[in-house]
Parts: sequence; C-alpha cells; structure tokens
Amino acid sequence: MTWVVALCLGLLLPLGHSKTVHIYVSPKGSDGNSGLDVSHPVATLDKARQLLDSSGIKGNTVYVELMGGYHNLQSTLHFTHAYSQPVTFRAYQDQEVHVTGGKQIPAHLFTQVTDHNALNMLPSNSRSKVMQLHLPSAGVTDYGKMSNFGFYRSRTSWLEIFINGEPTRLAQYPNEKFLNINSVPGGRHGKIITYSTHEDSRWVHEKEPWAYGFWYWSWADDAAAISNIDTQKHQITLATDTHYGVRVGHYNPAHLAYADNQGGYFRVFNMLSELDQPGEYYLDRSSGNLYIWPNTKSGTLASSDIITVSLINDCISMDRGVANLNFAGFTLEACRHEGIRGDNLHNINIQNMEIKNMGECGGVHLTSSSHVTVSRCEVYYTNGGVIISGGDRKTLTPSGNVVEDNHIWKFARVGGVGYNGISIGGVGNVARYNHLHDGQYTGLMWGGNDNIMEYNHIHHMCVNSTDCGAVHSGRDWAARGNVIRYNYIHNVVKNMPGAENRGIMLDDQYSSVTIEHNVFFQNQYHVNIGGGRDNIIRYNVFYDAVNYPLNVDGRGLRSTGNQATLFNTFQRYPYTSPPWSTKYPKLASITSHQPMAPMGNQIYDNAFYNKRGSSIVQYHGTGLDKKEYFDIHDNFMASPADFWSPREYDFRFRCSAETWARQKSVPQPIDIDDVGPRQPTGPKYMQKAIPQHHSTSHPASCTGSIVG
Ligand SMILES: *[C@@H]1O[C@H](CO)[C@@H](O)[C@H](O)[C@H]1NC(C)=O
Repeated sequence: MTWVVALCLGLLLPLGHSKTVHIYVSPKGSDGNSGLDVSHPVATLDKARQLLDSSGIKGNTVYVELMGGYHNLQSTLHFTHAYSQPVTFRAYQDQEVHVTGGKQIPAHLFTQVTDHNALNMLPSNSRSKVMQLHLPSAGVTDYGKMSNFGFYRSRTSWLEIFINGEPTRLAQYPNEKFLNINSVPGGRHGKIITYSTHEDSRWVHEKEPWAYGFWYWSWADDAAAISNIDTQKHQITLATDTHYGVRVGHYNPAHLAYADNQGGYFRVFNMLSELDQPGEYYLDRSSGNLYIWPNTKSGTLASSDIITVSLINDCISMDRGVANLNFAGFTLEACRHEGIRGDNLHNINIQNMEIKNMGECGGVHLTSSSHVTVSRCEVYYTNGGVIISGGDRKTLTPSGNVVEDNHIWKFARVGGVGYNGISIGGVGNVARYNHLHDGQYTGLMWGGNDNIMEYNHIHHMCVNSTDCGAVHSGRDWAARGNVIRYNYIHNVVKNMPGAENRGIMLDDQYSSVTIEHNVFFQNQYHVNIGGGRDNIIRYNVFYDAVNYPLNVDGRGLRSTGNQATLFNTFQRYPYTSPPWSTKYPKLASITSHQPMAPMGNQIYDNAFYNKRGSSIVQYHGTGLDKKEYFDIHDNFMASPADFWSPREYDFRFRCSAETWARQKSVPQPIDIDDVGPRQPTGPKYMQKAIPQHHSTSHPASCTGSIVG
C-alpha cells in the first residue's frame, strides 16, 4: 500500500503550495496589459518572461499562452535561472503561432528593378522577374556579414530571406553541381585556382563574390571570399585558406567509381550576375538593395505572401542552471544562429515544435544537460538538427535525455559536412523513433557511453559528400555500451567522388558497439568497421548493397595515426575500476591484447542477400581474414524469395529464411511501420497522419518463383 500513499502525496503536496497561472501573449496585445486574462494579453514573449518572476506568478505552474499570429522577437528570448515549477511556452488552444527572429516585409515594398547597372548585370532571362527591395526603407539596416561555413564550422548567418516559410539562397553558379578546378598555380596551399568555363565574363563587376567547394577532400566543404577574378586566365584567387588546401578536380557525376580522385570542385555565389532562377537572391550591402526572384507559384509577390527576413542571432537561449522550462506546439523560425540553445540545463521539454530556417548549428542545441526531451518536432532547413549531450562519463551517470518521434530532414541547408540530423554525446542518451532523411552528410552521430539508438528510420543520407556514415561515430575506445537496434537504414549511396558511404560507419578504430535487429537495404555499404574491436553485429537483415554488405579494415595495424588520440582519450576514464571495469571488462584489459589490432569483432546470425555476389565482407587490406579479428559465423545467405516483399520494405522472413530463423531463435525483422514517429509531428496546425506501408503482395508458395 505504500505506493498509493506516495502517489497521493505526490499529487496533493504541490497543490497546497502552487497554483496554475496563464499568461497570454498576442501580437495584437500590449506590454502594458496584465497578461493574466485572454482579453488583456501582453505583446511580447519577453514581457511574459519578465512576468514569470513577479510576485503572484513566481513559484507557480505557468502556461505562457501564445495566441495566433507572428511573434517577432526583438532580441534573443533569454532565460537566466531555474523555475521551481514547470513553465511552458505553448500555442494557445493549438492556434497557428510563429515565433520568428526576424520580421515580415510587406510585398508592396518590393518593386521592379529600374537601376541600370543592376539591370545590366542581371542575366537577360531574369530582368523582368527579379524584384528589388531597399532594406533601409523597410527599417532593416543590419545585414550581417558574409562568413565561412562548411565542415563543422560554427558561424552566424548573414541576413536571409524566406518566402512563405521556404528558404531562398544567394545566387550561385552553377545552379546545380560544381565546376572542376583545372590547375592550382600556387600549389596546394596557394589559394589560386583555374577553371575552364568562360561564363566568368559576367563576374567582373561583382562586388563581393564568394566561392564554396570541396576543395581538397570530398568530405570537407568550405566557403571563402574571392579576392580576385582574372577572366583572361579563368582564374580565381581566394581571400582565405581553405581547410585542406586546393587540388585539381575530376568531378564527373557519370563516373564516381574512383576513390582517389576526390575533391577539387567548387561553385561561386553571392553574385548578382548569377541571379537566374526562382528562389535566388542577392544583397548589395553598399546600397542596401536586395534583389530576389520570388520562389512563389506565380513567381511574383502578392500581399498574401509572407516574406520574412532573419535579424537576431539565437531565437531562445538558456543560461547554465535553467530548469523546468518547456516549449510546445508552435513554429520557431528565421534566426541567424540557433533555434533553442543552452548549457547545463535540467528538465527541459521541447515538444511538437516546428523549428526551421535557422542560420546555424542546431535547431536545438543543448549541452551538458539532463532530463531533456525533444519529441514530435519537425526540424528542417536548419544547419544541424538536434544536438544533445549530458551525463557524466567518469561515473557513467546517465543523462536521462531523450530525442524521440521527431521528423528531421534537409538539416544541412547551407553547409554540408558536420551538420548532423541528431548528435548525441555523453552517457545514456536515447534517440528513438525519429525519421531522418535528406542529409548532405551524417544523420545520427553519437559519442560517449551507454547511448541507445533504436526504431529510427534513416535514409538518403550522405547525399552530397563521401566517406560518410548515415550513422557515424569514431576514434574512441572508451565509448562503450552503445546499442544501435531496430532501425531501418537505407538508400545511403555515393553521389560524389571519394571514399565510400555507409549505413553505419565505425570510423578510426571505433569499438564495441552492438548493432542488432536492424534492416539495411540499398546502401553503398551497410556497415563499415574501421579497424576497431569488440563490435557485435547480429540479427540484422542486410539486403542488396551497391558494393559489399560490410567492409572492414585493420587501419591500426598499418598506421599509428590514431594511436595517440585513442590512448589519451581512454586514459581520461577510470577504466580499471568499477563501474568501468565491471561494465566494460574488455576495455580494462585492452593494453595487453594488441590494442591496435581489430580484435574481437563478431558477425553472426544475420541474413544476407546481395545481387552482386555472396561475399559478406570486403577486407580492406591483407591478413585480416582471421577469426580473432572478425569472427563471422552462422549467417544466412538468403535469396529475395526468402523475404515477404523487399520492394515494399517488407523483410519478414519466409521459406528457408524462416526455417533458419526458427532454428536459431532469430526473431522476425522489424516492420517498417514500427520505425519513425509514433505520433504526428510538429504543431497541431501542420500535423499530418502517420503514413503506413502495409505491403500488398502475397508471396507465392516457397517453391514458386518470387520477384524481389
Ligand atoms: C545536395 O546538393 C544539391 C546542389 O548540388 C542541392 O540541390 C541539394 O538540396 C543537396 N541535398 C541535400 C540533401 O541537402
């Protein structure tokens, strides 16, 4: 009976001390109002935030009710301290609420382009389409600065413009794909490149041209200002160094097979002379004139179009120590940096939000925090989706953080590499039931210990880069106790030159993850073990890889490149004493068991089918085919007829696969309808029903022929 008493106290005690207060906020309100009833709303979220500390409200459970419309933040909504009872900012009665880091510009302020110089520079096809806005006339004078981006770089975006919630981009050439570098007259670190196009004659009058490219490696993108364009020599001089220098490119979308000819391709942008299609814009910072070809259906602007420019940096930030704060049910958009950020937080819930059109790094970026939940959100058009870390690695104390049931897509909008869909780090974070797709690079990156990644649907990742894993971690022996299970991972292929892409990539001797009960199909490679140890791969379906199902190597045997990092990292943790030594006994004895060798990997009880042939593993290097390195046993070599309907993502075992699975007690593969969000995502006003994929095929009898 004790639990009943506890439950009753739990319910009754807070009521004695705290009541529930509602504060109303409406774009039509006034900050002179009390905000305490629905007919006297305050006007700004910041006023509501201040009221949280006033007497009569402080210490209570509070709902800040955001009423329908556009709430434009004048500055970052900044929280400085913990609340003793939950405070929730939410859409009032599920109304359509947009909280923006910018402001709306009336369509009538946009005019035809009349300036002769501008008209002369514009491509002839766009002269009658492009519209002009004098930003100071719309009250906008802070244009931000052009800045570098790409390859894990954090930046603050310049002013961006969004039409009806859709992003536009700085005018670029070419519109798709890239130009190859023809020669590098100054050498790898010389900043000078030549190319073969003659289109550059248009670029001579550009005021602030930039270039973006994969200059040396196909896994490292970078942007740089252009200091000089020589249209006689077809030569560009960059103003700054790129990450790894420059090289001659061999980018040819029709021939991607070569792994060695990577990098050396780029495009130019921020050019009025390249404003040649809907959705492109250019801002002349000296005059304040913005030129844009609207990406609306009509190609022009009407008073019903909602045109938003981004003005402030972070939308919402929380100082160290903030606790018991929730955000629910509204759209957060158009900030130049991050959506919701903070460090050392506790008990934060972010639910049914739409977070989009952020300039940088994270829709949600909360570090060293505990009991954070991000659930049922729509996160897209950001540069990085959800980044969460917490827990204590020394003591292996879990964070209690959960990222679940989110739809996260197109999350690398401006930069490519290093802006992941979900990043989790620390101890005991859970990423489950998320749907991640359309990523330029990694979908789910993890670091640390005892993290669980399950029931996620991850596909079309690594789209514009190579040497990439849709699910990726690397270079940390101490990162033990992680599990990747019950996920669907598919269509991660190679579209660019360079090294291979993989469904799961265990980079640079990453060790001891358990990969089980997942379904993989149509990936370049499904899983890669990059020289690490003690990884367990079992009970998975590996269907139809473009190359081999798995590739493995022993890079630590060939090179000591990662040795110092690996040793330094794991020696930071008390791996010889509990709880480390009891939880991770193999780590405790690693130094006496050939630490640089790929020892103890196990691949068993998986079902494989591959059009290209029956090899399970491609060994990258010689002498790796050893049981103590890669113990491969008891896998089932299936045919397409051994699955219900691969075409319809139905990989249930039948026929001989079913017999094998029963004998080995391998459970049926998970159904695709059991991965991804379990509930509708985003604010109520935009929610859609969850799609179901029930397969319609009725396979013939096991002796009959089946089409896969
Ligand atoms: C990949 O790059 C192309 C431009 O070459 C772009 O149109 C596309 O949106 C990018 N894909 C993703 C998933 O971001």
